[in-house]
Amino acid sequence: MAATADQSTDGGTTPAYFVSTPIYYVNDRPHLGHAYTTVAGDVLTRWHRQRGEKVWYLTGTDEHGQKILRTAEANGVTPQEWCDKLVEEAWKPLWQHLEIANDDFVRTTQERHTARVQEFVQDLYDKGEIYKGGYSGPYCVGCEEYKLPAELLDGATEGEKLCPIHKKPVEWLEEENYFFKLSAYGPKLLEFYAANPGFIAPESARNEVLRFVEQGLQDLSISRSTFNWGVPLPWDEKHVLYVWVDALLNYITAAGYGADPERFAELWPASVHLVGKDILRFHAVIWPAMLMAAGLPLPKRVVANGWLMVGGEKMSKSNLTGIAPTDLTSHFGVDAYRYYFLRAIPFGTDGSFSWEDFTARYTSELANDFGNLASRVAAMVGKYFDGALPASTAHGDAEQAVADGLAAAVGTADRKIGEELDFAGGLAAIFEFVKQVNGYLTEQEPWKVAKDDSAEGRARLATILYTAAESLRATAVLLNPVMPATAEKLWLSLGAAEGLGALADQTVAGAAQWGLLPVGTTVTKGEILFPRLEEKPAS
Ligand code: MSP
Repeated sequence: MAATADQSTDGGTTPAYFVSTPIYYVNDRPHLGHAYTTVAGDVLTRWHRQRGEKVWYLTGTDEHGQKILRTAEANGVTPQEWCDKLVEEAWKPLWQHLEIANDDFVRTTQERHTARVQEFVQDLYDKGEIYKGGYSGPYCVGCEEYKLPAELLDGATEGEKLCPIHKKPVEWLEEENYFFKLSAYGPKLLEFYAANPGFIAPESARNEVLRFVEQGLQDLSISRSTFNWGVPLPWDEKHVLYVWVDALLNYITAAGYGADPERFAELWPASVHLVGKDILRFHAVIWPAMLMAAGLPLPKRVVANGWLMVGGEKMSKSNLTGIAPTDLTSHFGVDAYRYYFLRAIPFGTDGSFSWEDFTARYTSELANDFGNLASRVAAMVGKYFDGALPASTAHGDAEQAVADGLAAAVGTADRKIGEELDFAGGLAAIFEFVKQVNGYLTEQEPWKVAKDDSAEGRARLATILYTAAESLRATAVLLNPVMPATAEKLWLSLGAAEGLGALADQTVAGAAQWGLLPVGTTVTKGEILFPRLEEKPAS
C-alpha cells in the first residue's frame, strides 16, 4: 500500500486518473485470477503516475451477502470475524507482496461505505426509482445473482439446473423484494453507448452488452429479507440491500460521495473500471443505470479482462490445481510474475498459465535479453572506464538509429499501455527496443574496439557504452511500472540517481529524450536482475 488517498490527490478539482479493480469476495483467499486484474490496474496507474498525472488506484473487498455468510457459518465464526481475518491475513498481505500501490482499500463493512450506501438508496427510493414487489426465480449463490431460466445448464438428475459459470445447482428463491426500475433505462443506456463508443472495451464485450440491453431489461430485485448480512434498507430494516448494489457503490463511497464534495469532484467519474468479463453486465448495465437514476456522472470506461483458465475452465477457487500466486513468486520472483501474465496474454482474451511458457519467457526475455544486457554493459564500463560513464563524442548513424528506436518504442508503449490497455503490445515494443540494443552491441563489438588504444578507438568505445547505458536508463523508466524492484536495481547500477534523482520522479516523456544520463556517473555491476531459475518445485 503506497500512499493514502490524501497524499495522492491534491484536494483541488483537477480530475485525477481514477482506476478501480472489482472488490473481491472474501469467502476465500485470493488466487491467480484476482491477482491478474489487480496487477493490471497497478501497472496502468503506475504508468499514468509516471506520465506525471495525478492518479488514484482503488481496490477492496466485497464482504456482504449470502456467500460470505454461509462460509462464515460453516467455519463457526461471525461473518465480520471471517472478513476481518481474511482481509488482514490473506488479501492485504498478497497485494503488499505483489507491490500493488493502491491509494485506498475499501471494505463494504466499513461505516464510511454503509452510511453512504443507505443515503444513496434512500435517495433513489425518494425519487420513485424503487418499488416493492415479489419475485421468484433460480438464484446462484456463487454469482450472487438471479439467473434467467434460458441460460441454465441441465444437471445430472431430472429437473436439476446448473449455473453456467459455476456449474453448480441453482436455488429457487421466492421473496417479497424491493425493485429498482432498471427496465426504464434500456433506451437511455443504448443512447449512452452509441454516444460513447469507447465506454465498454474490448469490442467483443461491448457487443455482448449491446445485444443484452437491446433484448430489453427487467427490473432488478435489490433487497433480500431471508438473511440479514448486509446493509439494511433505511425505510424498511427487515430487508438488506442486494449485495451487488451494495458492492458497486464502493466506487463512489470510497471516492468521497456524500462525505467530501471536493474530493468527489476530483475523483469522480472514474477513468477506468477494470472488471473480469464475468461481471461485465453489472458494471456496464446496472451500474450506469443506478448512476443515471441518481443523477450522477457515469464512469468513462469499463474494460473487461479475459479469464485465466485451468484445464479449459475459468480458474476459480475450486479448480486451482493448487497454484497460489506465492508459489509462482517464490520461484520466479515478484517482478517476473507481474510481467509474465501481462506479456503472455493479450488483455481482454482468455489465457492459460503454464510453467513451461513462464520459464521460457523468463529465460529468453528477462534473463537473456534484458538481464544480460544490463550486466554486460555495467561490466564493460567497469573494465574499460573504471566504472565512470564516458561521454558519447562520436554519435553517428548507428547511435542515432538506437535513439530513434527508443523514441518509437516510448510512443508505442505509451499509447498501448497508457491508453489502449494493451499491456502485451506495449511490453513487446519495449522488449523490441531491448533487442535492438543487443543487436547494436553485437554489431559494434565494443570488446574488439577496446583493443584499439588510439584516441579515436577510445572515443568510439566510449560512445558505444554510453549509447548502451543511456538505452538502459530509458528502459528502467519504461519498465518501472511493471517491474518496480528490478527497474530500481538497474537505476542504481547505472548511477542514474546521482544526476537524475529518484526513479519514481522520471517521466514517460523523459524516457524518450536522448542523452539524459549524465557523463561521469558511477556505474556498478549490482545484483543480477534475473538469476538462473532453480529446478521447478515438485507439484
Ligand atoms: N465481488 C464481486 C465483484 C464486485 S465489484 C463491484 C466479484 N468478486 S470475485 O472475487 O468473485 O471476482 C472478481 C474478479 O476477480 C473478476 O471479475 C475478475 O476481475 C477476477 N477474476 C476472478 N477469477 C478470474 C480468472 N480466472 N481470471 C481472470 N480474472 C478473474 O465478482
